[in-house]
Amino acid sequence: MIKKNNVLITGGAGFIGSSLANVLLPQNKVTVIDNLSMGDFNNLQESANLTKILGDVTDKKLLTKVFEENDFDYIFHLAAIASVADSVARPYETHQVNFDSTMMILEILRQNKKSLKRFVFSSSAAVYGDEPTLPKTEESTIRPLTPYAIDKFASEKMAMIYYNLYDIPASATRFFNVYGPNQNPNSPYSGFISILVNRLRENTELTIFGDGEQSRDFVYIEDVIQALLLIATSNQSLGEVYNVGTGIKNTINDLTKFAQKFTDKELSIKYDAARQGDIKDSLSDVSKLESIGYKPNYDLANGMKKYLNYEFK
Ligand code: NAD
Ligand code: UD1
Repeated sequence: MIKKNNVLITGGAGFIGSSLANVLLPQNKVTVIDNLSMGDFNNLQESANLTKILGDVTDKKLLTKVFEENDFDYIFHLAAIASVADSVARPYETHQVNFDSTMMILEILRQNKKSLKRFVFSSSAAVYGDEPTLPKTEESTIRPLTPYAIDKFASEKMAMIYYNLYDIPASATRFFNVYGPNQNPNSPYSGFISILVNRLRENTELTIFGDGEQSRDFVYIEDVIQALLLIATSNQSLGEVYNVGTGIKNTINDLTKFAQKFTDKELSIKYDAARQGDIKDSLSDVSKLESIGYKPNYDLANGMKKYLNYEFK
């Protein structure tokens, strides 16, 4: 566990960032930087330990000032344009956030890392692309299909190189599909489960891209926080990249059926053309993460029950 430390969370008003901040806040000083493009400061608990900075992670002047004025023990770089489809629509703009910000922070740290214990970069299962062998281990073929996936792979590699060449203590996570409370459903590019829950609540039409038989390894936010804390604090994880998933995959159709049955609601569903760059099947092997103590506590049914009970309480 991280206690009595000074922690920076970029993208800390977003889904994963705010969930992590809320776990750390009681026992740590937490600084959050977010431009609120997807996040919301209301996701964060009020706390005297919290500093909120409204700003852009591509703003070098701002970032330099923040690093000059603080001595961070842990940095979780979560700010990104998290949508694969948005990166297909806006490759250059998303590249500036999804790659350039990582490089800039690493470079600031190279000049002066102060007492940094760990920089954790949030990469993605998207790096594996469409090479069909499942499950994916960290050594599986990397075949990125989109600007998003290339930027995530380049960023995680850059972080590892800054560790090897300049001794910046870095690790990276390859998250599979994360879900849970406070994931913003209000963009067409939002995560599927957040959109599904929103359509159930508002009784509006759900669009499924493709035949709905594509599958994902859906991982509940609490297991993701467990993974982030382990990766940030383990000695073994220095300079290493970890899959973060459950090792179980489910199709979009099965998930949609489950959520309708559990909430006793019937959705109107439209099937549309598959999205460009969309991966067919995705499944993690988490044995490397298990070797540092990870044990996922939620399969999709249990995680969805907890999430839906929270949403429909
Ligand atoms: P999110 O969109 O909820 O969080 C990202 C946050 O970054 C948002 O609050 C957004 O406002 C902020 N942000 C975006 N651009 C910014 C900028 N230029 N400057 C400052 N802040 C900016 O997404 P999330 O699901 O919490 O994802 C967090 C990280 O994990 C991202 O890097 C994402 O790529 C990665 N990831 C997420 C998943 C998933 O399934 N949710 C899976 C793999 C990887
Ligand atoms: C998600 C994450 C991405 C992460 C990746 C890791 C988001 C927005 N995306 O991408 O950051 O790196 O997991 O695996 O958090 N779909 C529909 N209807 C919709 C929305 C989506 O059918 O309204 C489909 C998509 O076409 C896709 C599947 O649902 O086949 C999942 O989509 P999405 O939740 O956006 O996830 P990924 O693209 O897997």
